[in-house]
Amino acid sequence: MRHLTTILLFPIILILGLGILSCGQKTPENEISIGEYSSLTGTTATFGQSTHRGILMAVNEINNAGGVLGKKIKLQTEDDQSKPEEAAMAVTKLISRDGVKAIIGEAASSRSLAAAPICQANHIPMISNASTNPEVTQKGDYIFRVCFIDPFQGEILAKFIYNSLKLKRVAILKDVKNDYSIGLAKFFEESFKKLGGEVVDSRAFSEGDTDFKAQLTALKAANPEAILVPGYYTEAALIVKEGRELNMNMPFVGGDGWDSEKLIEVGGAAMNNTYFCTHYSAYDPNPIVQNFVMQYKKTYKVAPDALAALGYDAAMLLFDAIKRAGSTDGDKIRQALATTKDFPGVTGSITIDPERNARKPIVVLEIADGKMKFKETIQP
Ligand code: PHE
Repeated sequence: MRHLTTILLFPIILILGLGILSCGQKTPENEISIGEYSSLTGTTATFGQSTHRGILMAVNEINNAGGVLGKKIKLQTEDDQSKPEEAAMAVTKLISRDGVKAIIGEAASSRSLAAAPICQANHIPMISNASTNPEVTQKGDYIFRVCFIDPFQGEILAKFIYNSLKLKRVAILKDVKNDYSIGLAKFFEESFKKLGGEVVDSRAFSEGDTDFKAQLTALKAANPEAILVPGYYTEAALIVKEGRELNMNMPFVGGDGWDSEKLIEVGGAAMNNTYFCTHYSAYDPNPIVQNFVMQYKKTYKVAPDALAALGYDAAMLLFDAIKRAGSTDGDKIRQALATTKDFPGVTGSITIDPERNARKPIVVLEIADGKMKFKETIQP
């Protein structure tokens, strides 16, 4: 009898053992591995740090509530140092070494564009929390996002400057090393001209630059009523500061790339009389938002920015899709993600459209008296 048991058990143990070896995955049976690639360090470190906190909050919340499909979520995080080539390496590691079932990231479009083809080729669903360049989800049917896209953001910025600020002459200073910046500048210009506005001059800088005086002096000479800076907070804060030193006292306007607490920390009083649009406001009285803000502050002692809220939403939406899929199979998750409808996110209700983008409201913030203030929410 004992002999028989051994004979029967041996192949089973062998098969199990081989299975574990051949998958190369260390994830125990009772866990689901989810990957995250984020800029935890580098030029846009607050993007990754905020996103990571939002995702962690979602993971803790879901695990405390029993997990997904009876399993705990195991989050595997890779730092891409704010570099596209590192983003590509990060997802490769997450897929081949860690065997993740889905990936959340990135915030910055250039990094998502570098990583998406790898996720697509491996049939691993990827959800960007905040990349707004339209090309990101065009990389394939496994690539999703939970935010709006830049043709919409550009149009809203154009309407805001033209209709709300009532300004008709705009100059643009964009980052030519940044896909998001190039795209947003283009979409803005198209919309602004359609409205009857004029782009009086356009200049360029490259990520990492710290001296913008030459470009600003040239822009000033064109006599603009407002300056659009479609870039990230790191450079935007310096640009506005240097502009004010050159006596450029007109409004400076930006997109979601300005959303960081570092913007005012670096720019100081120069940031007054500036505006930017983003994905949500912590001042929104909606109970979903206020509950999120309260929980986040309790854990991290700071208010959540848009990236934290979008990181949380991306993770929660993914968990919801895995539940509906009833499986961790890449294709099944992809199908469930594609049919997401009216998902109640902190950043608004999320419906994934046929292009795998989300149609969402946009929020305009004003900086005055050294503080970000909620100005308006615009529905798509
Ligand atoms: N939308 C930016 C991009 O595509 C990223 C971003 C989103 C940055 C939200 C800040 C806040 O690159």
